[in-house]
Amino acid sequence: MRILGIESSCDDTAAAIVEDGVRLIAEAKLSSALIQQRYGGVVPEVAAREHAMAVLPVVETVLAEAGMQLADLDAVAVTQGPGLLGALLVGVTFAKALARALHRPAIGVHHLEAHLYANSIGHPVEFPGLALIVSGGHTSLVWWRGHGDLEVIGATRDDAAGEALDKGARLLGLPYPGGPEIERLALTAGPEPAFRLPVARVTGAPLDFSFSGLKTATEDLVRQHPDARAGVARALQEAVVEALMKNVKRAYALYPVPHLYVAGGVAANQRLSEALTSFGREVGATVHVPPVALCTDNAAMVAAAGYYRWQRGERLQPGEGPKTPWQL
Ligand code: KG4
Ligand code: ZN
Repeated sequence: MRILGIESSCDDTAAAIVEDGVRLIAEAKLSSALIQQRYGGVVPEVAAREHAMAVLPVVETVLAEAGMQLADLDAVAVTQGPGLLGALLVGVTFAKALARALHRPAIGVHHLEAHLYANSIGHPVEFPGLALIVSGGHTSLVWWRGHGDLEVIGATRDDAAGEALDKGARLLGLPYPGGPEIERLALTAGPEPAFRLPVARVTGAPLDFSFSGLKTATEDLVRQHPDARAGVARALQEAVVEALMKNVKRAYALYPVPHLYVAGGVAANQRLSEALTSFGREVGATVHVPPVALCTDNAAMVAAAGYYRWQRGERLQPGEGPKTPWQL
């Protein structure tokens, strides 16, 4: 079963062909991040127009790379939500039209579920697991019992983990997306941590996250120590990793599962994957971290998630559009 995946929920236009939810045949991506950098973040209207221009060339690129024709595709999976409405519209409309013309099924995929399936590329995912989804728009802890059987057990009350890094980066004069910039700058800090930023707790909801206070604290720190940018970057990264790991540990105490997963753009962070790997070793759980290229938005994860939705008989109906918001 060869599925073409299409992703257009934010600023990346991506296409990929994945066989049976596991084997990546080809992938391509065009990002409007450079254009968005001019505005200091993603401007929805700009993203939508860039998708409209990029979607066909990206699909043609993966087909050429795979040495395949449109007729060789068995289905088309697309991110149906959540995301930027105008951006999603481009992918969903394109996918429905293409599937219809090919007489193949179209499958609508949840963007966060898709992030989890970045872990499916190369080898099938194993259950039950606990998964941390950390991106620019979402921070969720998921109890992943099986395909199509997941429960969100913790989520952010305000900013997402990636958003906290992006905002902090902006305060430090670094370009968007800020996560990788913070990681790079933090590596240049001295061996001993110079500062500590606070990790918030959500009272009454121990598995929930809150990152909004971190922005104010970072702002103060930058003002007090304008020449210690690397130290501030490091403190910010440490605070985010610590906040995430605290809840992973609490969740594991409640759900001692054999598999720990991480997904989403922030999963590309080395400090986070190290912290998770060392925790997994400590408790005897297998830690799964997707390759860096599959952590951020991509279409391989969409095609993989689409395969399991297809198996469950889920189809994107002709009259359906983007779903945003869409609860996992
Ligand atoms: O999953 P993603 O590509 O898009 C969303 O669905 O949001 O995640 C983007 C987020 C951004 O906030 C970006 O700063 C962050 O992932 N990110 C990182 C790293 N690479 C990307 N954060 C920390 N360390 C990284 N290496
Ligand atoms: Zn994403």
